[in-house]
Amino acid sequence: MKTKVIFSCQNCGHQSAKWLGRCPDCSSWNSFVEEDFIEPKLTAKTDSSRINEFYISEPILLKDIENKEEMRIKTGILELDRVLGGGVVKGAVTLLGGDPGIGKSTLSLQISAQLAGLGIKILYVSAEESIQQTKLRSERLNISSSENIYIVNQTNLSQILEYIKKVKPNAVFIDSIQVIFNPDISSSPGSVGQVRECSNTLTRLAKAQGISMFIIGHVTKEGMIAGPRVLEHIVDTVLYFEGERYSSYRILRAVKNRFGSTNEIGVFQMGSSGLEEVLNPSRIFLAQRPKNSSGSVVTSVLEGTRPLLLEIQALVSRSAFGYASRKAEGFDYNRLNMLIAVLEKKLGLHLENDDVFINVVGGIKVDDPSCDLAVAMVIISSFKEKIIKDNAVLIGEIGLAAEIRNVAQLPLRIKEAQKLGFTQCLVPKDNLSPEDKFDIEVTPVRNIQEAMEVVFNN
Ligand code: TYD
Ligand code: MG
Repeated sequence: MKTKVIFSCQNCGHQSAKWLGRCPDCSSWNSFVEEDFIEPKLTAKTDSSRINEFYISEPILLKDIENKEEMRIKTGILELDRVLGGGVVKGAVTLLGGDPGIGKSTLSLQISAQLAGLGIKILYVSAEESIQQTKLRSERLNISSSENIYIVNQTNLSQILEYIKKVKPNAVFIDSIQVIFNPDISSSPGSVGQVRECSNTLTRLAKAQGISMFIIGHVTKEGMIAGPRVLEHIVDTVLYFEGERYSSYRILRAVKNRFGSTNEIGVFQMGSSGLEEVLNPSRIFLAQRPKNSSGSVVTSVLEGTRPLLLEIQALVSRSAFGYASRKAEGFDYNRLNMLIAVLEKKLGLHLENDDVFINVVGGIKVDDPSCDLAVAMVIISSFKEKIIKDNAVLIGEIGLAAEIRNVAQLPLRIKEAQKLGFTQCLVPKDNLSPEDKFDIEVTPVRNIQEAMEVVFNN
């Protein structure tokens, strides 16, 4: 077979017949690498023949299709099952991404042990670590005597396929996809071409044989898995494992899920014997909250179906260089700038000569705009050295006119605050219906000015 070459962007997978300095698709520089060109016709043919082989060939009535609930296997790790949408789906491919050292291999081994305990046969392809290393890790996790787990240290895809044929596992873990290579392709492991081809093959196999496949992938500095778009399109579910490397909390988040919601998060804590579930994260995230100190506030955000109380901290300090800098950890940078602009314009706060730092405690990243009110108030708190009431929780989105706007699922958030012993909630006006009753003081506020009158202690 005549081999043609093609240049593909290692960041997004864009292909070009000639080398390019800058990717026209994702605009990254110097990202093109020469790779073997794989005839699309070939893959298309195998795909369609596979589909005929393994899927229903005749159209059938939608109402006649049986809903097979047993297709889902609950791992028993509640935080994981919820993120997956109820458990591991038979024949589904899950991509588990995250920074190196965050705990992907640890989590994978723990999932393996849970599944193995349910009588499910596992093949764990430990491609980065030797089988001795994996054994040591399993001893640390107290799962070394697990039955049903087969481990192999192999990076060659055709060998891995052989092992799958031989062992006939129900679930396969590939740790990690970046070191797996298909010997028929000359590009190096980890390149977009290899990652795409290997994942494609593994996905087809998973679908054809009903194997639950877990593909582990490292995330690049820019926060993307090598060949991100290609990979994310191939698999059914994409989970990201995130958290500060030097904090022990880890958040598992679904960013794509064909079998469930993508808003759910799972919280874990890395301990001396692996990852432990954190079933009541609010309590933990608030554990080290400073008392009677300016620049600290609590808000109630919604992650999927679960309300979560979070501490948000701000530090506003005189800028050293005459050029104010703004930094946000766990909160959207542009949104922070917007809130600062609202505070300057609508409340006459002079923040132009001050640095503003925002930190969401616990390594969580919040997208929920309902924490705007807390962020704005905590900036004011630090700027004016005023302490926000210890027992208050602030909830509300802020609009450009400094008005406080409604948020979704408010009663759920208030109940979480009540559960953790807070005594007052600031909420958007008209967000509650008259029949909502709580054992906590609920104070509706219309704008930032009204909120300021209520929350400051001094
Ligand atoms: P690992 O699962 O190897 O990360 P990844 O596969 O994402 O690269 O996790 C590595 C880190 O976790 C390492 O710094 C050691 C730590 N760790 C613990 O703290 N406790 C444990 O029980 C285990 C197994 C690992
Ligand atoms: Mg690993």
